[in-house]
Amino acid sequence: MRVLEVDHPLVAHKLTVLRDKTTPSPVFRQLTEELVTLLAYEATRDVRTQPVEIETPVTRTVGTAFTKPTPLVVPILRAGLGMLEGMTKLVPTAEVGFLGMARNEETLEAITYAERLPADLTGRQVFVLDPMLATGGTLREAIKFLFARGAADVTCICLLGAPEGLKMLEAELGDAENVTIVLASVDDRLDEHAYIVPGLGDAGDRLYGIAG
Ligand code: URA
Repeated sequence: MRVLEVDHPLVAHKLTVLRDKTTPSPVFRQLTEELVTLLAYEATRDVRTQPVEIETPVTRTVGTAFTKPTPLVVPILRAGLGMLEGMTKLVPTAEVGFLGMARNEETLEAITYAERLPADLTGRQVFVLDPMLATGGTLREAIKFLFARGAADVTCICLLGAPEGLKMLEAELGDAENVTIVLASVDDRLDEHAYIVPGLGDAGDRLYGIAG
């Protein structure tokens, strides 16, 4: 498993405003979108492409195009939905599937409550969107689910990660070269409620303004 913490002043600045508890939902949503676009730029570095012949106004030349099928983007509901726009802005031809997962706040286990994905993901490159990699349970289940359907590689784009969750995923996935985690920051730790510290609070609530 590869972990890429994107070190860029634009990312750090936008993340700081996101963390601020006085930042209202509309600004939070806008910044999430912008931040995801910056993270997606790094996350798509290994996206599969093929040479394509085109004609410019001047001459014929060989350019680059995504291979088909195009990448599949999977936001994890609910909070991952707030990241979708930022990703599709950068990769507008991507297909989009949905995975609804929630964590049981007592056991902290992830449960899948909804799924809308192609039945066969054989050979597909998949980009999972989930803002908070806390215990890692949700991403572990999502990654297992996608590989069980045949995905070739999975790149998870997160805003924040906790060392505890990353360590758990590392232990589970070991040296799997087909899993990459791209995030804006690896924070300090989890608190007793499995919230990321310093974090930004509940990402879903901050995006959508309601609990649930
Ligand atoms: N989910 C969130 O929304 N925030 C956290 O800090 C941890 C999990």
